[in-house]
This record gives sequence, C-alpha cells and structure tokens, in this order.
Amino acid sequence: MTKSFYLTTAIDYVNGQPHLGHAYEKVISDVIARSRRSLGQEVFFLTGLDEHGQKVQQAAHNEGKTPQAYCDALALDWRTFARELQLSNQDFVRTSDPRHKSVVQAVLTKLNNEGHFYRSKYKGFYSTRQETFLTEKDRRPDGSFDPIYGDVTELVEENYYFKLKDHQQWLIDTIEANPEFIAPINRRNEVLGFLKNNELEDLCITRPAARLSWGIPLPFDPEYVTYVWFDALVNYISIPAAYGDPKLITALPDLKLDASTQSQGLALWPADLHVIGKDILKFHAVYWPIMLKAIGLALPKQILVHGWWQKDGEKISKSTGNIIDPLAVINNWSLDAFRYYVTRELAIGPDGNWTDAGFAARYTAELANGIGNLLNRSLAMLRSYRQKVVPPRHDELSHGAMTTVATVRTQLLNQDLQGALQSLFSLITTANQFIDQTAPFKLAKDPAQAQRLDEILYNLIEVCRILAVLIWPFLPTTAEKIFAQIGIVNPPADFNLAVWGGLPAGHVTNDPAPLFPRRDTLSSPA
Ligand code: MSP
Repeated sequence: MTKSFYLTTAIDYVNGQPHLGHAYEKVISDVIARSRRSLGQEVFFLTGLDEHGQKVQQAAHNEGKTPQAYCDALALDWRTFARELQLSNQDFVRTSDPRHKSVVQAVLTKLNNEGHFYRSKYKGFYSTRQETFLTEKDRRPDGSFDPIYGDVTELVEENYYFKLKDHQQWLIDTIEANPEFIAPINRRNEVLGFLKNNELEDLCITRPAARLSWGIPLPFDPEYVTYVWFDALVNYISIPAAYGDPKLITALPDLKLDASTQSQGLALWPADLHVIGKDILKFHAVYWPIMLKAIGLALPKQILVHGWWQKDGEKISKSTGNIIDPLAVINNWSLDAFRYYVTRELAIGPDGNWTDAGFAARYTAELANGIGNLLNRSLAMLRSYRQKVVPPRHDELSHGAMTTVATVRTQLLNQDLQGALQSLFSLITTANQFIDQTAPFKLAKDPAQAQRLDEILYNLIEVCRILAVLIWPFLPTTAEKIFAQIGIVNPPADFNLAVWGGLPAGHVTNDPAPLFPRRDTLSSPA
C-alpha cells in the first residue's frame, strides 16, 4: 500500500472560541491538502480538538456539566466551524475519543516498561491557568510572575517525569542533519539556538488525579492522569493507529485493535507535515521528536510554523473586543473571499495584520475586478459575438499560461501558498490586459476581423478554464462556479486539467454570473 501524504493541524482547545487564528491555520492546511490531491497524491488530512485539562474541568463544573458532556456540546460547534471553512479533512480527532485514549495508554505503558520515566518530588510554583510548573527563571526582575500565568501557587507534588535530557544532543544532531525538518528557517534557528544554549529539563508528564481528574489515567498508576501536552501530541499517531497503520501496530504491540481496524492498514506515519503556530513550537520541535524516538517511530518530515495574526496592529483579544469572527466575515463576504484574504495577505511564517480596509480592498481589486471581471467579460463577449460557442483553438496566451502552471505547481509543492496566488493572479492581470489591448468589443464591429476575434475569445475562455484549476485548492467554490459557467461538468480538482488546449472548439458555454458581486467598499467585513 502506498503511503498517503499525511498532514495535520494543531488540535484546538475545545473551550476556546473559534477565531481568526484557528481559521487561518485550518484554511492553509486545507489548501495544502487540496493542492496535493489535485497534484495526484493520496492525502489524509487530520484536524481536531484538545479536550483534557484543568480549565475544561473547571468550566464544565461551573456549568454543572460533566467534562465529557461539556466537551461534546462544544465539539459540535467546532465541527460546524470546520464545515463552514469547507475543510476537506478525512477525520476529526477528539482527545476524549476512546481510540485516542487507548493509544496514549499504550505509549505510556511502553515507555514506562522501557525505563523512560521516573518518579520524583517537585517543590515549587504552579500556574493553574497555564497548567505548567514554573521555576525561578520564570520570575520577572521584580520577583513577580507574568500575568499570563494567572494565580501562581506553591506546591509540593510527586509526579512522573520523562527523561528528555538524555536526548538533547541527538535532537540537535537530528535537526542539523535535516534542514527541512523545521520550516521556515528562522524557526529552525530558534529551536537550535534554544537547544544549544539551555539544558533541557525532564518533562513532568502527569498530574495527580486528586487535583485533576479530567485526563487520561496512567495505565500503571491510577493516582495520576497524563499531562495534557503529552496526551495532545499523541493525537498525531493515535489516528494512524486507529486506521491500522502497520508502523504503529509494530511500535505499539500492546495496543488492542479490533480486526476490522487492523485490516484497513492505512499507511500514514510518518506525517509529512505538522502545521502549527509559532507559540507551540517547543512542544512540537523538542518534546514530540523525543517522544517519537522513545516510542521507536520515525519523525515527521516537516513542522511548518505559521505566524500570528493581529488586528489593526494589535493583539487579537476578547477582553479588548479586538476580534474577528471568521463566521461573520464568511456570512457577509463569502467563504472564498475569507480563504483568499488570509492566504494571499500572509505568507506562512511571519506575523500578519488583519485590517477591514485591506480585506475590502483585496476583495474589490483582486476578486471582483480581477478574476470576477475576467470571467464575466470573457463569457459575456462569447455570448454576444459567438452565441456561447467556443471558436477553434488558438495559442497566443498558451506559453504564458503554461509557464504559470509550472510555477504554481512548484510553489504548491513547497507550501508557498501566497506565492502561488501571486503567480496565478499575474496571469489574470495578463488576460485582463489582453482584453484591453486587443479590444475585442471594437473588432466585433468589423466582420473582416472575425478570425482575430475568434482567436482572442478562445484564449480568454481557455485562460479562465486553466485559472479555475489553479485556484481550486484555495477557492474551491469559485473554481467550481467558473467551470459551471464555462459549461464543464467535471470538477476542477485535478491539476492535470491545467493543460492548454483542453477546451474543444464548438463547446457551448453557459451564461456568465458575477463570481464576486461588487460591494460597497465601506461596509466592514465583520
Ligand atoms: N491545544 C493546543 C495545541 C495542541 S497540538 C497537539 C493549542 N490550542 S489553541 O487552540 O490555543 O491553538 C491552536 C492553534 O491556533 C495553534 O497552532 C495556535 O498557534 C493557533 N493560533 C491561536 N491564535 C492565533 C493567532 N492569533 N494567529 C494565528 N494562529 C493562532 O495551542
């Protein structure tokens, strides 16, 4: 069985409100998933929810619900969110799923049996809000702790620790030997800098069940539950295990799977891509590789780290009201307008800044006047001058179009989504300029120019057809609308369709309809 391209997102905290940051990460991951599928790869795209921990337990308690019932209700909203974003994910993992818990427990059993853990007493500071232990190093110069930690209490506690320290040099060597492992390069340098200048602390992987019951019990000590991050990271392998991935079955011989699962034998691991935000880099680039090494599994091929969005140059924050509700934007402007803005505005890596004016400007200039206008003018002219019948093939824009196709292919394979959009929009500009320069509306008045008019119209409709294929991973609905208006019944989801000359002479198109209706640019996205 050939291995699928396996791509994951971070799993979101179930108790947060879905916001722009979550939507962004899921959309870029979806564009990557669709690109790979369009390019002919089998893809498995996983997203989901991180449900355990103190905050969820507390919030459920406040609402008088069990944590499971509380999570079940919220999970419905998150699934709706994924649907509204038109994510093409194959599965949706929840860390409270039995299939996930059994893998976490199998991992814990194996690592415990093989001597990766020890018990130790900890005396120090604990932040309940961040569910993390703090050290003297975390104090600010005035002795206080950053307010992000909330109330910090002193405690003495016995817990289990995972021996991270032993693997520090191995991790440095591995990252150095695999330049692609962490992208972009500044994030790789950040991790290497951290590893070379700090001694790793062993990782506390439990919390006493007496204090926190909403977690996965340690299989070898029911007094403890698993630390949320240890639990959450395992989602990336628990789903492959649930599909009977042979690599997981071999690595976790104690895992009990039913026969039907095992027989699926989907080959997913190692992941090709973990898409995450910059704030959770250490968990993915330090803890996770060491966990995998201890389990005896290969490392993911790449951790792709995106930046954070701000709004109007300031942190997105519920408390100050500086937020963007992606669903409100989608309702108001369409899903594809949202998907376009976030992928076009921000490359994967740096931080971004959302402005309502910037959103409206891109909508008008690039979507309504750019691709929308090109398709509309082209089909309207074909209807007026040729009764919607495609003239014989002509190759004037072929070279430019096929150069763009080759560039976009490379950019998609490199996850350069912004670059791919820039490339395909320069083809839109070229085609719009071609209309202005050749002025078919003037040629139409002169019967002697009939052949020239045929040539121009063929080039325009063929460019629109190819653009639909290139844009499909980003704006699937728009691409489908373009195909429908051109009168093509197959979906535009196959990159192989982006070959010049695919549109036959004599093909009859449908009527044009605006892809992105013009808007009052003053109305705000949210
Ligand atoms: N549950 C953990 C991840 C566990 S992965 C094994 C978590 N959840 S989160 O809900 O806080 O964040 C989920 C993702 O959203 C993270 O990758 C995070 O970086 C991303 N973002 C959260 N806010 C963001 C912005 N303002 N901008 C862009 N992405 C942001 O962390």
